[in-house]
Amino acid sequence: MEAAVHFAAASNVAPELSVVVPTYKERANVPELVRLLDATLGGIDWEVIFVDDDSPDGTWEVAKQISRRDPRVRCLRRVGRRGLAGACIEGILSSSAPTVAVMDADLQHDETLLPKMLDAIRGGAELVVGSRYVEGGSQGDGFSRIRAWGSETATGLARRFLDIDLTDPMSGFFMIRREKVEAVADQLSREGFKILLDIVASSPEPLKTVELPFTFRERVAGESKLDSLVTAEYLGLLVSKLSGGTVPVRFLMFLAVGASGIVVHLAALKVALHVFTTSFAWGEFVATVVAMTWNFLLNNHLTYRDRRLTGFAFVWGLLTFYVVCSFGTIANIGVANSLFEMAGTGPWVAGFAGAVMSAVFNYVVSATLTWRK
Ligand code: GDD
Ligand code: MN
Repeated sequence: MEAAVHFAAASNVAPELSVVVPTYKERANVPELVRLLDATLGGIDWEVIFVDDDSPDGTWEVAKQISRRDPRVRCLRRVGRRGLAGACIEGILSSSAPTVAVMDADLQHDETLLPKMLDAIRGGAELVVGSRYVEGGSQGDGFSRIRAWGSETATGLARRFLDIDLTDPMSGFFMIRREKVEAVADQLSREGFKILLDIVASSPEPLKTVELPFTFRERVAGESKLDSLVTAEYLGLLVSKLSGGTVPVRFLMFLAVGASGIVVHLAALKVALHVFTTSFAWGEFVATVVAMTWNFLLNNHLTYRDRRLTGFAFVWGLLTFYVVCSFGTIANIGVANSLFEMAGTGPWVAGFAGAVMSAVFNYVVSATLTWRK
């Protein structure tokens, strides 16, 4: 016993609990969160791992400054990458503690729940979720009406399609046995916010789960990074999981952008023909360029926001995207035509096959040429 206590006190021995905190522009919240953790986790052997995506406000500097005085505080600074889920995964994988918790840095999650969560784990639970929806939990003032609606809809979809039986699968506040994440780490999506849902959906065996209520607090400093895009990514995650992970979320996003590009194409064609009274061929040409540009801008902003191109790379990226799409179009026409002519396929099926061909082609080639890592 003596020896065990001695080792636990040495700073290079894994504690019982790692609290993983993803941060992006949370400079003002970090010191306060450490203070709160310290106050609430007395008697527990814990550490906190901030995973910061190179925040421009220098969040990682603040965290590392604290960690110089306090060995329980660690900071992983990730460069050239963005994404909440990816940050959580890396933080968890950097831990050697048997149990890990994930919580937000912005003080919206009630840290006093952590000891109760750990009790549940010690009592045999494999996953403990801080839920806003079980009895006693609440949105508090931290939630707008629209967000509450979106969150409920997303929960309903998860229950229906992924067979997930949590009251709050969107929660960003949970504790889990680390080995359960390690086991599925290579199947988890790095994009989006839905890390918990993803872990649960990916686990081969149902996890022994406990849900504990908490009240979602209002954010004091900084601002939320959850936008409508996160919802789109969430829907993508659902489809991706339903396909058994064969269809990447990014491809679905790329397809959605492509679909919007068709609308833009038709609108541009209409304007060219009716307002500028161009010939059909010219109208098509202009509409194609407009739609390709639109797709590039949107993909650069949304699909590839984690590696968004700027400056010279932006111009070069746009040019390569034009080239990629041109070849994609040739592939489209080639496939559709040969199916239609030779195999005697109906025009709709042939056209659809051509469109699928070019979508896959554009996605795969632009991923390596335009938005290469
Ligand atoms: N490293 C990293 N990279 N951290 C990020 C990123 C990122 O790209 N985006 C956000 N974060 C961090 C924030 O700094 C914060 O600590 C935490 O992730 C949550 O981000 P918020 O922007 O505050 O999210 P929210 O409050 O809107 O959403 C919360 O509630 C949702 C439920 O409605 C989160 O807990 C979500 O996970 C949860 O689904
Ligand atoms: Mn928040």
